[in-house]
Amino acid sequence: MEIRLEKFSKSFGPVNVIEDMDLTIGDSELIALLGPSGCGKTTTLYAVCGIHRVTSGRIWFGDKDVTALPPQKKNVGVVFQSFALYPHLSIYENIAFPLRIRKESSADAERMVKEIAGILHMEALLGRRPGQLSGGQQQRVALARALVRKPDVLLMDEPLANLDAGLRLEMRSEIRRIQQETGCTSILVTHDQVEAMSMCDRIALMNEGKIQQIGSPDEMYHQPQNRFVAGFIGNPPISFADGKIEDGRFDTPGLRFELPDRIKAASVTAGQNITIGVRPEYLQPDLATPIEGEITFVESQGREVLYDLTLAGGQVFRSIQSGEHVCKLGDRIRWGIDADAVFFFDGQGNRVTHQDGSR
Ligand SMILES: Nc1ncnc2c1ncn2[C@@H]1O[C@H](COP(=O)(O)OP(=O)(O)OP(=O)(O)O)[C@@H](O)[C@H]1O
Ligand SMILES: [Mg+2]
Repeated sequence: MEIRLEKFSKSFGPVNVIEDMDLTIGDSELIALLGPSGCGKTTTLYAVCGIHRVTSGRIWFGDKDVTALPPQKKNVGVVFQSFALYPHLSIYENIAFPLRIRKESSADAERMVKEIAGILHMEALLGRRPGQLSGGQQQRVALARALVRKPDVLLMDEPLANLDAGLRLEMRSEIRRIQQETGCTSILVTHDQVEAMSMCDRIALMNEGKIQQIGSPDEMYHQPQNRFVAGFIGNPPISFADGKIEDGRFDTPGLRFELPDRIKAASVTAGQNITIGVRPEYLQPDLATPIEGEITFVESQGREVLYDLTLAGGQVFRSIQSGEHVCKLGDRIRWGIDADAVFFFDGQGNRVTHQDGSR
């Protein structure tokens, strides 16, 4: 079932939280609504669910206009950030709860609960109570309860936020597997870019109530449309540095290089201020374009080491390198960047691309 938001706006009193959002989620797709705290993710999810009334715009499920329908009139499964299980009911009864409200016969309910419990590998837990389960198991019950009535649409708000790191990793692939098995069109709200990148077909990255970019995880990483997207996606994050364009070169103290043809071909003019973005994997000892400075931070992460290289003008570039330490704090060094992998951003923060959109 395709979900379509058309010029969706939502305000609370005088405050506009979402303005004119357009978003289409394809049938069976899992899309992440990603963005910093307060950007409007939950507000959007609640509008799709029907918990919030939209201020203006339309919401469609397939070719049905569901803008004004309350949650109980739509076939949506919702997983809230807190699992909200009923502590005095068994796991079986917790999962069967939405079916009881829908007045399914107990034979049908039993069949449906057993089926979803099978998909989630939790048949053995049905007789227990929520207090007797681990956090990850409780999370799975919440998922089962959302999925048991075969919803057209699955909505999840930070479903992994309460789990520890190990469980979160396990549940990531679990949710993805179940979503693919059930083919349910799904929205996952998260502020964790790694979660969004690893679980979802596409990501809609939001900031201050606006979608900044929609794309596959690869597109978001390699073709960010603006500085916000480039900075939000990627861990450790990209480094930015301001500089000037002179004689077809980018120039900042410690780093000076010929602009790639694609940037020259775009309308970049001499004297213009520009910001570059360099991902940490494109700053390495052996890359071609020289960059000079002092090592001001070293952190070993086991398999990889992180370094900060601070240039004469104070610009800081982060590098991630595999293997052992190659230098120590305070060393003055000359490494290199891959100029072809550098992003250029104009004064408005938009990425400068070649006319054909290539980087
Ligand atoms: N019922 C409400 N009344 C007034 N303002 C609200 C209401 N609900 C949300 N807001 C405001 O709308 C904005 C977006 O909130 P929302 O809960 O959608 O953010 P979010 O992206 O889900 O953030 P988080 O990651 O912290 O959960 C915030 O500024 C919030 O204060
Ligand atoms: Mg929220």
